[in-house]
Amino acid sequence: MKPRDRLRIAMQKSGRLTEPALELLNRCGLTFRQSRDKLFCFGEGEPVDLLLVRDDDIPGLIAQGVCDLGIVGRNVLNEYSLTAGMGGPELAEWRSLGFGRCRLSVAVPQELDYRDASQLQGLRIATSYPGLLGEWLRERGIDAGVVTLAGSVEIAPRLGTADAICDLVQSGGTLVANQLREVDVLLESEAVLAGPQVLPTDERGDMIDLLLKRLDGVIQVRE
Ligand code: PRP
Ligand code: ZN
Ligand code: MG
Repeated sequence: MKPRDRLRIAMQKSGRLTEPALELLNRCGLTFRQSRDKLFCFGEGEPVDLLLVRDDDIPGLIAQGVCDLGIVGRNVLNEYSLTAGMGGPELAEWRSLGFGRCRLSVAVPQELDYRDASQLQGLRIATSYPGLLGEWLRERGIDAGVVTLAGSVEIAPRLGTADAICDLVQSGGTLVANQLREVDVLLESEAVLAGPQVLPTDERGDMIDLLLKRLDGVIQVRE
C-alpha cells in the first residue's frame, strides 16, 4: 500500500459514539468538511481525515493499515484481538476517552435463581462477543454453548434459541424490556483511541504524537 501523507481516523458512522467522538476531535482543534452521510470526511485545517464506518469494522481497518487510528468501544477492540485479529498485527488502546461507558455482561431470565457463574454450565448463551465470552467461560472452567448472533441478542431467550445472553448494558433498559437480569460483568467498556501497537515512524507518527498531546489536554480539562 502506498504511504499516505494524511492521518486517517476511523469512527462509527452512526451510533452512540458518533456525536461525542466528533465533539472530542473538534475540541482537539480538528474540523471536517464533508457531511455526515458521507463515508469520508476531509479535514479542513490539519492533515487529518475521517472514515465513517460500522464500529465492528474499525479494528480490521487499522490492522490492514487502511486507517491509522480509530475511535471504538473497548469491547469491539478486545473482541477483535481475540477472534478475527488473531495472528495479525497487534492493536493497542492508546487512550481511554471517557464516553460511551457500558458493561459487557451476562444476563439471565428474571425468574432464574442465579447464584454464580457455575450455573451457566451446559446452558446456551447468545452473544455478539464469542471471543470475550469464550475466554471468560474458559477462565472459569465452564462448558457452555456459545450462540453467536450479530444483533438482537436480547430476544434469544424468548425465542428459545438460548438460555442466557452476554451483551452490552448501558442504561439497562433493553434488559428490563426483555425480562432479563444482569448477573455478571465481563468487561467495563468505554470509547478508546485504538491504533497499531507499533506506530508509524513517518510524518503520520508525528501527527499522532501531536493528536495524543492535544487529547491529553482536552481530557485533563474535562476531568
Ligand atoms: C447495545 C446492546 C443493547 C443495548 C443496551 O446495542 O446490544 O441492545 O445497547 O443498552 P441499554 O442498556 O441502554 O438498553 P446498541 O443499540 O448500542 O447497538 P447494536 O446495534 O450494536 O446492538
Ligand atoms: Zn456494533
Ligand atoms: Mg442492540
